[in-house]
Amino acid sequence: MQKIIVTGGCGYIGSHTTVALQNAGYNVVIFDNLANSRIDTLDRIAEITGTRPDFEHVDCTDTNAIQNAFAKNSDAIGVIHFAALKAVGESVQKPIEYYKNNLISLLNILEQMSAFDIKNIVFSSSATVYGTPDTLPVTEQTPLQPATSPYGQTKVMAETIIRDAVAANSNLRAVLLRYFNPIGAHPSGKIGELPNGVPNNLMPYITQVAAGIREKLNIFGNDYETRDGFCIRDYIDVNDLADAHVAAMRYMEQMQNGTAIFNLGTGRGLSVMELVNAFEHATGVKIKYEITSRRPGDVPAIWACADLAKEKLGWVAKTDLSDTMKSAWRWQQNISEK
Ligand code: NAD
Ligand code: UFG
Repeated sequence: MQKIIVTGGCGYIGSHTTVALQNAGYNVVIFDNLANSRIDTLDRIAEITGTRPDFEHVDCTDTNAIQNAFAKNSDAIGVIHFAALKAVGESVQKPIEYYKNNLISLLNILEQMSAFDIKNIVFSSSATVYGTPDTLPVTEQTPLQPATSPYGQTKVMAETIIRDAVAANSNLRAVLLRYFNPIGAHPSGKIGELPNGVPNNLMPYITQVAAGIREKLNIFGNDYETRDGFCIRDYIDVNDLADAHVAAMRYMEQMQNGTAIFNLGTGRGLSVMELVNAFEHATGVKIKYEITSRRPGDVPAIWACADLAKEKLGWVAKTDLSDTMKSAWRWQQNISEK
């Protein structure tokens, strides 16, 4: 069985990707420091797939520890690098911590891949690299704009670092995946997103209001120049996102050396109100909300053109929105019981 190193594999997207990789026949070893995740995720993955992934409790910024972890797993064919801090607002307060964590981790990973001759890396990038785009939907050719937060800047810088590393090493291949807005949970309700404290993101906020943990949803602005005045995003089911990583891994096995970039979205923009309505219709639970002022830094509208991923990876987002809403709610109910 081919082995893949999944950094940050106990986290939200990493755990779903581990499930998808195992179901596709890969052997997964997770490197995670559990900074934003829990060890019992490994058992939950095992309940879903029948296999507990191997695990190294390691901080990717710790050069010696990462070297040892790679030495133990030098037979891996590739790395999927999720490990990062991801809270946009927090990154403004703690820029050094964000640059250090996200960039030193990446440098360590690239260094050890080179040392152990591991050829393939898939990197978690973000739609944030497009800033406020001039045209919609965004394609991979849409010009990047200056990032509006240190978090976003780590993604822009990481993409550059990977491109440069690949250009200098003819053995290395990279796929940069620009995620739009991942939502939902595994249909089993056994794994999902675990927000720390008050959620920053829309979907976990909605499910916490539904569960009675928060009194109401604050909707940030209804005066945007969009079809209904609310911000528009491309919400993509996390299980579809996970499948794209399997497709990327397969693609790399026959890819020429170099760096490939793919948008991962549905190609469909939904407004905040449309998402709230979709949740209510799918679950039958009403969401109390209040319209408040705009959130600084929010892009009015962004959604993906994901045609390239379809053409090259043979991947499309396929989960029905109402199934995504139901899985998010199932997961929320499971964690609320604990
Ligand atoms: P997450 O916080 O749930 O998962 C990240 C995992 O990485 C956690 O398990 C955390 O413990 C681990 N980690 C962080 N720093 C580490 C370090 N130094 N060493 C080892 N492990 C470390 O986040 P997620 O939503 O699953 O995001 C995964 C990746 O996708 C991140 O790179 C994130 O920036 C990117 N991304 C996420 C979104 C989103 O909306 N969730 C959107 C675009 C891009
Ligand atoms: N929103 C609300 N109320 C909330 C939370 C969010 O109205 O309580 C609105 C926001 O204003 C925005 C939409 O819901 O219009 C989506 O907001 P999220 O915070 O869920 O997602 P963002 O699009 O702001 O952020 C996401 C990722 C970031 C990434 C960014 C840009 O979470 O990691 O996309 O790609 F940087």
